[in-house]
Amino acid sequence: MAKIWSKRFDNTLNPFIEKFNASISFDRKLILEDLDCSIVHAKMLGKTKVLSSSETLQIISGLEKIKDEYLEGKFIPAPPSEDIHYCIEEKLISIIGETGKKLHTGRSRNDQVGTDIRLWLRKEIDNIEILITDLQKSLLNLAKSNIYNLIPGYTHLQRAQPLSLAHHLLAYLEMFQRDRERFKEVRSRVNISPLGAAALAGTKIKIDRNFTARELGFEKIYKNSIDAVSDRDFCIEFVSASALVMSHLSKISEEIILWVTDEFSFAKLTDKCATGSSLMPQKKNPDVPELIRGKTGRVYGHLQALLTMVKGVPLAYNKDFQEDKEPIFDTAETISSCLKAMTILINEGIELNVNNLSESVENDFSNATDLADYLVGKKVPFRTAYQVVGEIVKYCLERKILFKNLTIDEFKKFHPEFDEDVFVDLEPFNVVKSRTSEGGTGFNQVEKEVNSWQKKLIF
Ligand code: ARG
Repeated sequence: MAKIWSKRFDNTLNPFIEKFNASISFDRKLILEDLDCSIVHAKMLGKTKVLSSSETLQIISGLEKIKDEYLEGKFIPAPPSEDIHYCIEEKLISIIGETGKKLHTGRSRNDQVGTDIRLWLRKEIDNIEILITDLQKSLLNLAKSNIYNLIPGYTHLQRAQPLSLAHHLLAYLEMFQRDRERFKEVRSRVNISPLGAAALAGTKIKIDRNFTARELGFEKIYKNSIDAVSDRDFCIEFVSASALVMSHLSKISEEIILWVTDEFSFAKLTDKCATGSSLMPQKKNPDVPELIRGKTGRVYGHLQALLTMVKGVPLAYNKDFQEDKEPIFDTAETISSCLKAMTILINEGIELNVNNLSESVENDFSNATDLADYLVGKKVPFRTAYQVVGEIVKYCLERKILFKNLTIDEFKKFHPEFDEDVFVDLEPFNVVKSRTSEGGTGFNQVEKEVNSWQKKLIF
């Protein structure tokens, strides 16, 4: 097939370079966006009388026909077309003839491709927003039934203080909420129309940029035609917001992987989301969270790739930008599938071992702060109380016992302010209950948290 630009050239492309140059193998993903963009462009050219109404109708019905054929599986964009834009134009000309050659009036592939990827990203962002919300709902459901169940809280992966299990889970809802807010902002910068910037300088053809922007659902238009075709910052923002989602997904994945080990035994995997080993008959592996954790690297890699791609690229469009597509396509696919998989894992892939969880908080020193705070309540300065408790911890460790195994006389030897009521304060349930500060793990606080999430997510 002769290239659209072949008249300016004496020779044909080296076949390897032709393939090297082409993007059709991946940018065909943009076919529906490209068709929508072209339909609106043709409509606009009709409105401004650049095209007659019969030309406009012919072009639009040709494009609609391509859409139908594609959706019916009868038309598959493929080489030798160089990219999806040429592919559609060539197909249109083959269907409607000469009039098809008028479609590209007053535009360039530079503003066209910029429009397509923005439309595509906008749709993906809307889908991701739904998937994140679904995951939040699943976590909220789990939290709702675990307000009064406890889990050891860790810092440095060392036992720190006991927590309401719901409070632990709700921490993730906050992270995912920020992710949603970030995508909302990214969407507002994606949703700007570059169409009509043409190659880089605008056009003398009578076009109406606000019309095409409105028809395509864009909020506004790029003000500077050079800028409109010269940046991929919005792609980078999309991948960056996605990278943070992946970081949150991999954090919860790592926790689940730990929880289902024999060592932790805080949860077990159901058969729905676990696999066996080919060799070791006893094994049940947490493949789902491991895969999510592993896939995080891909998205971080795409972010690095895009940042490097735009570095030092002069104004305006440069072919480097063709490299924007695979990273954003793979990012969207990776984060969407990971969000879905995590939601399934939370809904039906793990069972929390509530007994082990509450037993584990009974058998550690994570109530040490409360022992110190007990003395603080008796007007002992915190630093003194802290040191007294340090001595008690050492004493217990030497004897392989816990605070609760000490007698009141032993306590009194460390500080005369200790009294029988100290044993009440040391119970993990009371430890958690007493953290009444705003945003803390006290049950009243957690109930409030659950209620406010319920309102935010369910309505
Ligand atoms: N396939 C190209 C891309 O994805 C389309 C734009 C080509 N523009 C150009 N001036 N060569 O970036």
